[in-house]
Amino acid sequence: MKPINVGIMGVGTVGGGTATVLKRNAEEISRRAGRAIVLKMAANLDIARAREIVGDGIEIVSDARVVATHPDIDIVIELIGGTGIAKDLVLTAIDHGKHVVTANKKLLAEHGNEIFARAREKGVMVAFEAAVAGGIPIIKALREGLAANHIEWIAGIINGTSNYILTEMREKGLPFADALAEAQRLGYAEADPTFDIEGHDAGHKLTIMAALAFGIPMQFDKCYLEGISTLTAQDIRYAEELGYRVKLLGITRRTAAGIELRVHPTLIPESVLIANVNGVMNAVLVKGDAVGPTLYYGAGAGALPTASAVVADIVDIARLATADPEHRVPYLAFQPDRIADLPL
Ligand code: HSE
Repeated sequence: MKPINVGIMGVGTVGGGTATVLKRNAEEISRRAGRAIVLKMAANLDIARAREIVGDGIEIVSDARVVATHPDIDIVIELIGGTGIAKDLVLTAIDHGKHVVTANKKLLAEHGNEIFARAREKGVMVAFEAAVAGGIPIIKALREGLAANHIEWIAGIINGTSNYILTEMREKGLPFADALAEAQRLGYAEADPTFDIEGHDAGHKLTIMAALAFGIPMQFDKCYLEGISTLTAQDIRYAEELGYRVKLLGITRRTAAGIELRVHPTLIPESVLIANVNGVMNAVLVKGDAVGPTLYYGAGAGALPTASAVVADIVDIARLATADPEHRVPYLAFQPDRIADLPL
C-alpha cells in the first residue's frame, strides 16, 4: 500500500518526541499501520530550532498553512496549541481533505463540536488520544475497550503539572513556585501554566472524556473549575497527618439532574490506589455498568509519552484511511441532539 505522509504544525516538546518515536520505531510502526509512515514536513516559525529538534530529511517551512494545504500531506499533526491560529489551521486542513491528529485539549473542549461536525461533513478523521492524560490510551479505552458499557462515572488525576507540584510539595517540602518552575523546566506545563494550576487543563480533558463516555457535545463552559494555586504546604501537611493526600481530581458522572463536570482539589485516604499516583503520572478511574471500576495509569505529560499517543493516532488513521467513512472509529461519539442538562 502507498505510504502515508505526515506533516507537523508546531515543533516543540511533543513535536520533537513524535519525530523521535517515528524514527526510532519506524519498522514496527509501519508494520502495525500496514503501510509506511513518512514524516515529510514540519512547520515552525523558528526554522533553525525545528531543524535541530526533528533532524535532517524533513522539509521545514515557517508557514503552517503550507502543511495544512499541501497536496502531498495526508495527515496533519496539530501541536501549536491554543484556539486562535490552531483552530483556523485545523479547519483549513479539514477543508483540504486532510486527516488531523491533535494534542490540543483546549481546542477540542472549546470548539470540538464545530471541528468534529466539519470533519464529518468532509469525510476526514480527527484523532485526539494525546489530548487527554498524555500517554495513557484512555480515549481508545472509552471509545473501544469499554464500548459495551453504560459509563456511570469517571474520576481522574489528569493534569501532570499539578500532580507534580503537589507531590514535590509533600515529599520534598518544595515551595509551590519552585515546584511549578521545575514542572515547566521538564516540559510538563502549558505555555501559560495558569491553565495547569487553576484546573482549566484538567477541565478541558474532563470535557472531552465526558463527551465520549456519555455521547454528549463538548460543554467546557459548564465545568466547575477550582485549581491548586491557593493550597499551602500546611494544607498538604495537615491532610497527611489525618491520613489523606490532596489530589486535583476531574470528576464527571451521571446524576438524576444531568451530567456533572467538576475539577477541584480532593482529599483521598492514603490507602486508596489513586492517592499514590505521584509526580507527572496520571490515573483515570472509569466505572462501567458491565465491567465495574477500571483504572488506567501512566505518564500524563512529557515528550515521549505524549508522542506515543500522537503516533498511535497516526497508526489508527493509516489503517482506516482507505475504509468507508461510516466504518472508521476515530470520530468522537458526537450526538448533537443530546444536550445534557448540567447542574453545575
Ligand atoms: N500541561 C499538561 C499537564 C500537559 O501537565 O498535564 C499534558 O496535557
